[in-house]
Amino acid sequence: MNDLLSRPPRLPLIAPSILSADFGRIAEECRAALDAGADLLHLDVMDGHFVPNLTMGPDMCAAVRRHFPNVFIDVHLMITDPAAFVEPFMKAGADNLTFHVEAVGEPAAARQIVEDIHARGGSAGIAINPPTDVQRILPLVEQFDLILVMSVNPGYSGQSFIAPVLDKTRAISARLRDDQRLEMDGGIGPREAVDCLAAGCDVIAAASSIFKKANYRDAIDALRNAAPAHTNK
Ligand code: DX5
Ligand code: ZN
Repeated sequence: MNDLLSRPPRLPLIAPSILSADFGRIAEECRAALDAGADLLHLDVMDGHFVPNLTMGPDMCAAVRRHFPNVFIDVHLMITDPAAFVEPFMKAGADNLTFHVEAVGEPAAARQIVEDIHARGGSAGIAINPPTDVQRILPLVEQFDLILVMSVNPGYSGQSFIAPVLDKTRAISARLRDDQRLEMDGGIGPREAVDCLAAGCDVIAAASSIFKKANYRDAIDALRNAAPAHTNK
């Protein structure tokens, strides 16, 4: 397993979501983000069912892996049936697979997916949507390498940050070990990043506040340095 999440060289990690990149030049866009200081790449997978949009599948993941053999690929599965896509995405070179608590029924089902991901050498994340109660996820967090608190309702980039989810970030942060990461995703620019980091988030996923800016390095630096007082866990 790639240990970027469990033993990060620095925190916070900045995870550009390529959903706002120019799809016609995706390799160039990934290269530019990595050259600008991105720690990993965040791939948003949507199935038109769990969320009302369609984006990318395992072939995109495999293409990114082919062009960037060493980059950490963080796949965010916004899909109804995550269990069915563990094998295709792990074969496509994903390092981390995050699926939604709203997409799994019983805790045992989540555990089975985690075991499958781990058996294939990946790390596993669990995501929670803004309307979902934090109690739904707290009993599960111990088995995950990453917890993802959504700060928009998933489906599209470029939406506004939903600040009340920060209560969830704080509640989850209090439960985590040093080797677990707490990611936030959606509507995060430098201003929002200050509050995210203060609440215990240590991985920032961002699409428009990086790829819609002229200078990716400035954009990534602004997110990373949003809370100078933030101390690494
Ligand atoms: C939302 C996706 C996010 C999205 C973030 O459904 O999971 O990763 O790309 O986009 P911004 O940063 O523009 O809100
Ligand atoms: Zn995402």
